[in-house]
Amino acid sequence: MKDYTLEQLSLLLKSKGEDSLLLREKANILTEKIYGKNVYLRGIIEFSNLCKKDCLYCGIRKSNNQVSRYTIKKEEIKELIKKSYQDGFRTIVLQSGEVDVHDKDITEIIEYTKKNFDMAITLSVGERKREKYYEWKKAGADRYLLRIETTNRELFKKLHPDDDFDVRLKALLNLKELGYETGTGVMIGLPGQTFDDLAKDIMFFKIYDFDMLGVGPFIPHHQTPLKDERPPDFELVLNFIALLRLVTINTNIPATTSMATLDKEGREKALNSGANVIMPNYTPQEYREKYQLYDNKICLKEDERSTLKITEETVKKAGKTLVKERGDRREKLITDIPIGI
Ligand code: 5AD
Repeated sequence: MKDYTLEQLSLLLKSKGEDSLLLREKANILTEKIYGKNVYLRGIIEFSNLCKKDCLYCGIRKSNNQVSRYTIKKEEIKELIKKSYQDGFRTIVLQSGEVDVHDKDITEIIEYTKKNFDMAITLSVGERKREKYYEWKKAGADRYLLRIETTNRELFKKLHPDDDFDVRLKALLNLKELGYETGTGVMIGLPGQTFDDLAKDIMFFKIYDFDMLGVGPFIPHHQTPLKDERPPDFELVLNFIALLRLVTINTNIPATTSMATLDKEGREKALNSGANVIMPNYTPQEYREKYQLYDNKICLKEDERSTLKITEETVKKAGKTLVKERGDRREKLITDIPIGI
């Protein structure tokens, strides 16, 4: 396994046609050496769209007063988790906009879940103080997703009027240090983002050794300041996934919902380019329209079970096997390091 330089990564990101296919095939071979054909399942519950932040790209940003705001009651969330367990999920992701009003309920929901079901809990609720992350870890939370969004500090500042790059990074390091399996990620194709920026993003993931890498295309939302911008070519997204796998080797990489928005077979293609995780939406149908971070999000008219069915078909079409296991990060074995890749 050779290390890629920034220049090489930047060049490989630009691969087109046959070159892109070759790169993705290489990543798929490595993925199958590590995971076989297995794809891990995680259900995601978008339990609230309240948000105090004004990220320029996001449909549920604070300033978007056309969004009708909701929070699913904690008893309903517990019922959903129970149902997801019965449906075979062994990881549930709790996601919301960034506010701290639900923090106590989150603790209670973690405790309820760990007491009753053998399943992993992933939180995706934004930046908090180390003490809060500690409290949730003690309550039983296993994993945390917090995207850095871009590692270009200047671009980060422009897109996040309420945030500071170093605070975000510190939060990620706190999570790691507290023993969470920690996930981060970026958007691909942000206005002003360059190939070199994306190459540096990949290096960043490698250097900090994050466990999970959730990435997807930037897709404009019509009620945000970035409404007139364009999403990237889908090939770039696939090249990025392939390089993530080739560089970081044993990380968990999801084929994300946003990929299916940009390309009808986006998730199938991602699952053949290095991705090994799929995260169907487990939010009840009535809330889905209110949680649109970007335009044309898929499965808005579906319910929990029909979305799971679509996911099963997606994985099958990709020629892979959906496994209903926790899917913790795999230890890197010496035999995982392929010769000649
Ligand atoms: N396009 C694509 N992804 C988006 N996200 C938010 N807004 C958009 C958008 N317009 C992503 C961010 C965030 C995750 C939950 O959704 O990366 O971290």
